[in-house]
Amino acid sequence: MAIGDSDVAEAEVAHDDEFPAAVEALRTRRSGHNFDADAELDDETLEALIRDAALAPSSYNLQPWEFVAVQDDDRLDEVVDLAYGQEHVREAGTAILVVGHTEPETADRVFDEWVEAGRFDEETGEQVKEQTVAGYQSEQAGRDYAIRNASLAAQNLLLSAHARGLTATPMTGFDFEGMAEFLGLPEDKVPVLLVAVGPSGGAEPDRLPRRGVDEILHRETY
Ligand SMILES: Cc1cc2nc3c(=O)[nH]c(=O)nc-3n(C[C@H](O)[C@H](O)[C@H](O)COP(=O)(O)O)c2cc1C
Repeated sequence: MAIGDSDVAEAEVAHDDEFPAAVEALRTRRSGHNFDADAELDDETLEALIRDAALAPSSYNLQPWEFVAVQDDDRLDEVVDLAYGQEHVREAGTAILVVGHTEPETADRVFDEWVEAGRFDEETGEQVKEQTVAGYQSEQAGRDYAIRNASLAAQNLLLSAHARGLTATPMTGFDFEGMAEFLGLPEDKVPVLLVAVGPSGGAEPDRLPRRGVDEILHRETY
């Protein structure tokens, strides 16, 4: 059975009372297309969104992500063109490209932090760092790490926007190479998701059905 809006609203899931607001937020988050084109996202809120995004989990806490925010009108026009004319990006007023690292460039600093915090002794820290760095050797592995880690940060960003009453939409409908070039991404960084975010312009259409748990949950083996 598919999960519809009404089921989500009515579902009383056991043990969801520790952080009910968090559960409510993830149940009601939407990819909105209705923005208030006359209102703007202030700097403080933009920084708060990024701070929340950066609380996402990441492999060994490498935090292999960056965010490029575009708010200038002329530059947003270019972003809309690169997003194949998706006008809601302009109406949102802010487009944030979530960028992933394909190289473990934060490894030295982060493994020092593990050791300084007493979570690893020096020898273990060095060993784990070497293993982690080795895990990035192939191009495919580097991209996989980039996409996995930065996608989690993107989801945090979406939930943070929703919690602040903003509308946010994750997007991959854009020219990846063109966007990377336009925003000046270095070679070892990949565009992961573009997030259009801004003040809400009102209600969104009902959520489309979700596939049911009986269809997507496999127990013990696929
Ligand atoms: C990887 C990915 C790519 C997406 N690309 C676009 C996009 O280019 N444009 C857009 O308007 N929405 C895009 N979406 C939003 C989806 O259409 C939306 O998440 C889906 O329909 C479910 O709706 P909901 O997020 O409101 O629950 C994308 C979502 C994801 C996760």
